[in-house]
Amino acid sequence: MTAATTLPDAVLPEVREFLAAEHLLLIDGERVAAADGRTFETLDPATGGRLAEVAHAGSEDVDRAARAARAAFAEDSDWRRMSAADRGRRLERLAALVEDHAEELAQLETLDNGKPVKYARAVDVASAASHLRYFAGWPTKVQGNVIPVETPHTLCYTLSEPVGVCGQIIPWNYPLLMAAWKVAPALAAGCTSVLKPAEQTPLSALRLGELALEAGIPAGVLNVITGDGETGAALVEHPEVDKIAFTGSTAVGREIGAKAGRALKRLTLELGGKSPNIILPDADLEAAIKGSFQAIYFNAGQACNAGSRLFVPHQRFDEVVSALAEQAAQTTPGPGLEKGTFVGPLVSAEQHERVAGYIDRGRDEGAELVAGGGTDLGDGGFFVEPTLFTATSDDLQIAREEIFGPVLVALPYESLEEVAERANDTDYGLAAGVWTRDVANAHRLASLLRAGSVYVNTWSPSDPGAPFGGFKASGIGREHGHDGLRAYLETKTVWVSLR
Ligand code: NAI
Ligand code: MG
Repeated sequence: MTAATTLPDAVLPEVREFLAAEHLLLIDGERVAAADGRTFETLDPATGGRLAEVAHAGSEDVDRAARAARAAFAEDSDWRRMSAADRGRRLERLAALVEDHAEELAQLETLDNGKPVKYARAVDVASAASHLRYFAGWPTKVQGNVIPVETPHTLCYTLSEPVGVCGQIIPWNYPLLMAAWKVAPALAAGCTSVLKPAEQTPLSALRLGELALEAGIPAGVLNVITGDGETGAALVEHPEVDKIAFTGSTAVGREIGAKAGRALKRLTLELGGKSPNIILPDADLEAAIKGSFQAIYFNAGQACNAGSRLFVPHQRFDEVVSALAEQAAQTTPGPGLEKGTFVGPLVSAEQHERVAGYIDRGRDEGAELVAGGGTDLGDGGFFVEPTLFTATSDDLQIAREEIFGPVLVALPYESLEEVAERANDTDYGLAAGVWTRDVANAHRLASLLRAGSVYVNTWSPSDPGAPFGGFKASGIGREHGHDGLRAYLETKTVWVSLR
C-alpha cells in the first residue's frame, strides 16, 4: 500500500471528513461495497501519496448498476412519471448544491487531480454548475412536431423520447466538469445513467452522486461506479445500456465505437486532439502570445483541445518563440493547493512517464528545446516543467501525436494556404485557433480548418449552449446546447388515421 499523503492545513474539515469516510459505489441510491470487496487507491499527484481507497466495481456491480438504471427508467417509475418542469427544478437544485459546495468540491478536485485550486473553483466547479443549470432549462422545451403529410385524414406527429439507460465514461483531466457534461443532458432528456469516473480521479463524481440524491433526483437515476478500464468495458457491453457517452483517448474510443456499432447502441465520443494554433503576421502579438501560452499550459496541457501545435510566420518566429520561452521559464510547477501555482502536477505517474518520454523523443528527433524539459523535480509529485520545442518538420512524433502535457511545438510557415493545409494534415480535428486583425482572413481560415471548434483571437472559451466536439478521429457527435441534448433523445413518429 502506498503511504498516505499529508493534507495541507488549508484543507477544509468537510473535505477531510469526506476523505476519511468509505468510498463506496452508488447504486440505486445506496452506498455499497464492490461485490467481491475489491478496492483501489487514488493518489495525490502533488506528493504521490495515497489520498483514499475506493471501491472497485467488477462486472457483477456493473450489472447491478445497469439494472438499477433500467428500473428507474421503467414506464411507471417516479422519474418517468415526473413532470418535465419538476425534472428541471431538481437539476436546478443540483446546480445550486454544486455552488453551495464549491470550495469543498474544488479542494477535492485539486487533491485528486492536482490542478490549481483557484482554477478548479473558477473553471471546473463553476462550469459544472452552469452546465447543470443550462440543461435544467431544457426539459420543458423538449417538443415534437406535427407533420403536414400528404395522406388525407391523417394526423402525423413526432415525440422526442429519452434514449434510455446511458453508460457514461469520463476521463481524469476535468473530473467533475466531465461528469456534469454527461449527466446534465442525459437527465434533462429523461434518461437514467451509470456514470464511471476515471480510476485516477474517482472522488468528485461520487460526491456529485450524493448531491444528486440530496437534490431530489430519485434513486437509480444516477448511479456512480468507480473502477478502471475493465469496469468501463463491462458497462459498454452490458445489454441494458442503450447509449454510450465516452470522453477519453482515441484508442479506447475506437474500441468502444466498434462494440457500440456491433450492438447498435447510440454513441457519442469526445476524443483526443493535436490542435493547431495559427498566428497570422498581422496579429496583435502580445495577445497572441498570451493566448498561445494559456492554450497549451493551462491544466498542465491536459486538455483534449490544448493548442499543442503553434504555427508562427517565419518573420515573427524568433520574437514569438523567445517571448513564450521567457514566460515558460518563469513558470515553476507547484502543488495545486499552493497559492500562485499556475501549472500543477500531471495526474499520475503513468502520465508523467508518458510526457517525459515525449520530451526525450523530441530531443532525439532533433527538435530544439528552447524552454523547460525538466521532469525530475523531486518530492514525489508528478511535475513537468512547461516545455517548448521548435521544429521545422511537421512529421516529428512530438508534432503529430497527442502528448497531453505541458509541451508545445512551434513551427514556422510562409503563407496562409500553406499553413491551412499543414494545420489540417492530422488525424484529429477537435479545435483550431487563429490570431489576426484581418476579418477576411479570420473567416477564411475558420472555413478552411477541419475542426469542431475554431477560436479567433481567443482560446477555448466554453459555454453550455455552444456545441463542442470533434471532426475526424477527435470524435462523433456534439456535446452542449441543443445538439448535446438531442444525443439523448429518440424521435418517434406517430401516424393516426382519422377515418
Ligand atoms: P483512457 O481513454 O484509457 O481513459 C478514459 C476513461 O475510459 C477512463 O474512465 C477509463 O477507465 C476508461 N476506459 C479505459 N479503457 C476502457 C475500455 N476498454 N472500455 C471502456 N472504458 C475504458 O485514457 P488514459 O489511459 O487515462 O489516458 C491516455 C491518453 O488518452 C492521454 O495521454 C491522452 O492523450 C488521452 N486522453 C484524452 C482525454 C480527452 O479529454 N480527450 C482524456 C484522457 C486521456
Ligand atoms: Mg487508461
